[in-house]
Formats: sequence, C-alpha cells, structure tokens
Amino acid sequence: MPDDDGELDARAPLPADTVGLLEGLTTTRAIRRYKDEPVPESVLRAILFAATRAPTGTNRQHFRFIVLTDSPNALAAKKLIAQRARSAWAGMRARDGYDSGSGAEGNSRKTRMARTMQEFADNFEKAPILILPCLIRQKNPSKLEAASIYPAVQNILLAARALGYGGVLTGYHLAVEDELVKLLDIPPNIFIAGTITLGKPQGSHGTVRRRPLSELVFVDKWGNAPSWAIDPPGTEYASAGPPKRASAEK
Ligand SMILES: Cc1cc2nc3c(=O)[nH]c(=O)nc-3n(C[C@H](O)[C@H](O)[C@H](O)COP(=O)(O)O)c2cc1C
Repeated sequence: MPDDDGELDARAPLPADTVGLLEGLTTTRAIRRYKDEPVPESVLRAILFAATRAPTGTNRQHFRFIVLTDSPNALAAKKLIAQRARSAWAGMRARDGYDSGSGAEGNSRKTRMARTMQEFADNFEKAPILILPCLIRQKNPSKLEAASIYPAVQNILLAARALGYGGVLTGYHLAVEDELVKLLDIPPNIFIAGTITLGKPQGSHGTVRRRPLSELVFVDKWGNAPSWAIDPPGTEYASAGPPKRASAEK
C-alpha cells in the first residue's frame, strides 16, 4: 500500500482487512465519536471503491459521492450541516425525554446515548470526513429509486469497519439542502441521500444490538416466526426506537 503520508500509489491494491464479512457486518455500529486524526487517502480510496461496487438498478451506477475533508468549501458545508445537527439533537433530546427517567441516572444506557449524541452534535464539523451520497434522479423514478443509493451507503460503513474506521448516516442535511446545493454546485436533479461522518473511532466497535430474530422474521405469512429463528449465543438485544419516555419507564 502507499505510504499514507505521501502520494497515493495508483498501482497499489486495496488494503487487506482482517475482519470476516459476517463478523464485520454484525459489528458495524453507528460510530459518532472520532479521534482527531485524518483519514488517509489510501483508506478513502478503498472505502469509496467499496461504495461504488454496490448494486444499482440495471447497473445504471447513477450514484455519486461528494467527499468533504478540510477545503474551504468542505468546512463551510460541514459547518452548515453541523448547525442543523445541533438543533435537531436539541429537539430530540427534549422530545424523547433523554433527561428524565433513567436519563437522569448517572450511567444508564439513555444517559450514555445522550452524552454521545451531544458530543456528536457539538463536534459534528470536526468529523475528519463527511460524505454526501447522492443519486442522479431518473425521469420516471420507480418506488425502488432509493434502493440504488443506500446499499452504497452501507458499503461505506462496512468498508470503514473493515479498515478500523467507523461512521454514521444522518439526515441532518435535509433542512439545509438548498444552501448545500448552492455551495457545492450540485445539479437540480440530484437526491442527497444523507450525510456520512467518518473517522477513527474513539471507542471500540461493539456488537450490533437489535430485537430478537423471531420478532423480525416471518415464514409463509406475516407474524409467523420460523422455528429456526434462534439468535446465536451471546446475542445482545435493543428495543426499537428512541428511549421510552420517563412516564412509560416506570
Ligand atoms: C435512515 C437513517 C437515518 C439516520 N439518521 C440519523 C441521524 O439523523 N442522527 C444520528 O445520530 N444517527 C442517525 N442514524 C443512525 C441510527 O440512529 C443508528 O444506525 C441506529 O440507532 C442503530 O445504531 P447501531 O447500529 O449502533 O445499533 C440514521 C440511520 C438511518 C438508517
């Protein structure tokens, strides 16, 4: 691989990863806290190469990715989205009762989540990389239109995981889309599918927690859990959605 401080060697193969595919995808969690370290171009190249290997309808490849690092334009775009991230999180914090019930306890899961989200919002523009995954809209889009961009989004997160990096998809750009479009010269027929912040995680990657398999998978008809829907040993769970409001927690 190229020397990460220097020129990217165009002939270099992708870096080797050490995480198996299944292990990687069951440990790709939302990473919102990043070390203050740049992401080398060789890593960016591998991550974006993985993104562009994702499927699109009839292989149209009508996805595009704007990578924002530290140019004046990039910093302006990051700042714009960061302001929205802060107001969105402040609203969510109050609305979803992050400071009441178990949220008022020192080290509950809710408190830790609120702490992470606050830090994420406060430092949003400092994320080493921000990627805007975009889709060139078709004239007569099908209902599956967005399915040509989100597999690439997940590939970005998985490739980051494979290389010791991490990130999270957000929708914070939505409220500032018009300003972003102007700032970054984005043509009118483009769907900006989200923001992906990326960097070296401050913590470690943990196991993804979801509801039990038997609640999420059916056979033959809605609601009919298959007998084989048994979570592997050691599976950890999480309920769906934001934390329960204080009144419902008791
Ligand atoms: C469509 C979508 C929108 C999301 N929007 C946000 C967001 O605005 N802010 C945020 O911090 N995380 C956002 N996320 C990340 C989710 O909150 C996260 O993936 C989820 O809580 C599961 O976290 P885990 O994978 O670490 O278990 C979004 C994820 C998706 C798929």
